[in-house]
Amino acid sequence: MFTFYLRTYGCQMNERDSEALSCLLSAHGHQEVEEESAADLLLFNTCSVREQPELKVLGKIGLLKRAKRGRPELKIGLIGCMGQRLGAELFALLPHLDFVVGSDQLREIPGILERIAAGERHIAVTALGGDDFMRLSEHKGADLCSYISIIQGCNQFCSYCIVPHTRGRERSRDMADIVREVKQQVERGSREILLLGQNITAYGIAEAKRAGHYDPEASYLAELLARLEEIEGLWRIRFTSPHVRYMNDKFIQAICGLSKVCKAFHIPVQSGSNRILKAMNRGYTLEEYVHRVRQIKSLASEAQFSTDIIVGFPGETVAEFEQTLELMREIKYDMAYIFRYSTRSGTKAAENMRDDVSEEEKKRRNQVLLEELNQTVEKRNQAYIGQSLEVLVEGQSKRNEERWTGRSQLNKVVNFPWVESLNIGELRQVKILRSSANSLYGEIVE
Ligand code: SAH
Ligand code: SF4
Ligand code: F3S
Repeated sequence: MFTFYLRTYGCQMNERDSEALSCLLSAHGHQEVEEESAADLLLFNTCSVREQPELKVLGKIGLLKRAKRGRPELKIGLIGCMGQRLGAELFALLPHLDFVVGSDQLREIPGILERIAAGERHIAVTALGGDDFMRLSEHKGADLCSYISIIQGCNQFCSYCIVPHTRGRERSRDMADIVREVKQQVERGSREILLLGQNITAYGIAEAKRAGHYDPEASYLAELLARLEEIEGLWRIRFTSPHVRYMNDKFIQAICGLSKVCKAFHIPVQSGSNRILKAMNRGYTLEEYVHRVRQIKSLASEAQFSTDIIVGFPGETVAEFEQTLELMREIKYDMAYIFRYSTRSGTKAAENMRDDVSEEEKKRRNQVLLEELNQTVEKRNQAYIGQSLEVLVEGQSKRNEERWTGRSQLNKVVNFPWVESLNIGELRQVKILRSSANSLYGEIVE
């Protein structure tokens, strides 16, 4: 049996995979530790979406070569998207690595550990298309917010993106399974769920097509949300990431009409230029994107939006970049993840397009968008002063022990003075008294 340390890079689906894996390993008698130095097995659940996080992991594991020389019993495994992408090639780069497992084969790890314990080395298991994520439904406990993976993989093949290559084709879990998992988490104390999928709006589509009853007017995700809305004791439902190409009116009506669905929507746009959107193979135009946002606003006026943006996509001109800036000014995002384009080998963009925007120019564009974002958010936070928000109490503030912290329905962090008679998981009205760049501060109103 191993004592293992598991470190996760990348997206929330990876975090969820890690949680399920850690449950699986515990069920096999292995013991998780919080300190790397206390472990005899180090596991790295990795991300391939950009070069930077990949280099970080390679550097990190590279440094472990010496540690391993001093402790030959120490085993190291690299799992997840990088494992999927690079497979056994990784042993040439990192000869002291013991095993590599892709994102679809996590259930193989207990068996691999037996082989490793018996002295085998350099095991690589990277077949894609398994149903691991459908069967890995264990949770460590009941976090206030439980992550629930509902669809794995992506069929969109945006020209820059490695995810379809690392996560394979779309596969959705059974609705009944998901409802069961959510109910179990709520019974254990969760009050909020975050539904996860690389393209969550494609939920159920591949299965319906295969079964011959696909209806483009239907939204299987909307049906799922409606069923989750009925679960007693569940207060908030969030989901990420939806894709505009897969949104229809049914879906929009559901997310606006269901009261537990939080009206803070993360809708990745990537670019404000139609030419770039096309080159990215996003499958929607700027007009279609804006139309969906306006439609949501018209049905739920309080709705707020966040997004993902890539700057410096191959061939992006200054004028095209400025269209993205224009879009940001129009939508007034509450939050945005802004990325500098990073070439991923194996993708269409890597094969057919030249990464011709200089690193310096990418940094500049990134900075311009960040400044725009910060200004909007600061103004918006100030506008909350005097308002009363419903806050889900999350716990003691990490920065200041005399404060509670929680979040509003629209995902704003709200801090307020410590009172004894309060429990994690309660909903309270908090009147906002001041704001900062990142948070709101207020007091409970009785
Ligand atoms: N499925 C989601 C995105 C998943 S990847 C969607 O379609 O919106 C998360 C984000 O990483 C993407 O939204 C994109 O902004 C960014 N990203 C993906 N590939 C990238 C690349 N090659 N270079 C820079 N950013 C990238
Ligand atoms: Fe990648 Fe596009 Fe799929 Fe999102 S929709 S995961 S960006 S290929
Ligand atoms: Fe990264 Fe894989 Fe998620 S590439 S973003 S960890 S799906």
